[in-house]
Amino acid sequence: MFSFALGVGTKDSAGNWLEVYYPEPTLNPDPALVAPVLKALSYAGGNQATELTTVQASTCAAAVSDTGLKLQLEHLQTSKKPLVAVILDTDDKPGSVPEAYLKLHLLSHRLVKPHGINLDGIFAALPNVAWTSQGAIAIDELANRQLQARLAGENLEVFSIDKFPKMTNYVVPKGVRIADTARVRLGAYIGEGTTIMHEGFVNFNAGTAGTAMVEGRISAGVFVGNNSDLGGGCSIMGTLSGGGKEVISVGENCLIGANAGLGFPLGDRCTIESGLYISAGTKVTVMDSDLNPVDVVKARDLANKNDLLFLRNSQTGIVECRTNRSKVELNAELHSHN
Ligand SMILES: CC(C)(COP(=O)(O)OP(=O)(O)OC[C@H]1O[C@@H](n2cnc3c(N)ncnc32)[C@H](O)[C@@H]1OP(=O)(O)O)[C@@H](O)C(=O)NCCC(=O)NCCS
Repeated sequence: MFSFALGVGTKDSAGNWLEVYYPEPTLNPDPALVAPVLKALSYAGGNQATELTTVQASTCAAAVSDTGLKLQLEHLQTSKKPLVAVILDTDDKPGSVPEAYLKLHLLSHRLVKPHGINLDGIFAALPNVAWTSQGAIAIDELANRQLQARLAGENLEVFSIDKFPKMTNYVVPKGVRIADTARVRLGAYIGEGTTIMHEGFVNFNAGTAGTAMVEGRISAGVFVGNNSDLGGGCSIMGTLSGGGKEVISVGENCLIGANAGLGFPLGDRCTIESGLYISAGTKVTVMDSDLNPVDVVKARDLANKNDLLFLRNSQTGIVECRTNRSKVELNAELHSHN
């Protein structure tokens, strides 16, 4: 079995799921532990998301032997909101809202890495939702709810209109600092030791492997290696829109300068000068150790090569690639998460 999870969520007034929260999603669970739940749901194989009644939750709580699962079911049996059990036999593309939310949870719980799970068609699977101070609301029900709130003397704050909610309302992974939680979407993978400052942004199916300073944009599909520093306002191109197809990544111990940009996979111990935007096709002059030009290549030809320094020569305007001799050192005090 690929994944199993029990969740509590929100539906619109027509009974369609808007979102689901899974307190403890599992990857490759032992089928024996979840067998009583599968039996209660008459599970006959395949991928399915089935609504669970509080009575079924209570029956299952009595039947399971695993103490963690038992406790979870005991909590869920008191729910006033709809419950769901999702069983993913295989990692097929998400076929429902609960399945899509489970996959996003698996990423943010660090159970799978970006590109480690099938998210094909996830945009079509997810509804656009109003994320408000009263939880998730269907867009076409928002105006009525706003009126009801006003009439009751309440304030209904709309935080965003989006297919993806903010990650921290579902998962707060251990050992991270996130200055502005609205800038990290559910489905982001935030490694232990990562600091995300206000300018930082992390999309779903993207993130950091471990320690990192993020003051720039990590687009969907981009994964950043350990101990790398993304300077203020920098941008790593994504592949969702704009025509790019190549998966872009950043290696370990890299520095992407403030307002710089990257459009190809960067190796380890590389630096990009602040303000220099290099796309995959940028012509780059490769310099030898005496700073004499030896070759002109496209930036994509330098993909995943280590120890490179990219800068735009301020006297000639030429983008140069030199050997990177400096070491990225993250400020230990700045990065403390205690
Ligand atoms: C590109 C960069 C890494 C170079 O830094 P550095 O290796 O410390 O280099 P220095 O500034 O000491 O410069 C070394 C030499 O190269 C020259 N040089 C630096 N950048 C140059 C450029 N763009 N064009 C021409 N010459 C340049 C310097 O004038 C100096 O010349 P010298 O040997 O005659 O004295 C740095 O300018 C940079 O952009 N760092 C990013 C910092 C950042 O944005 N951090 C995130 C903050 S949020």
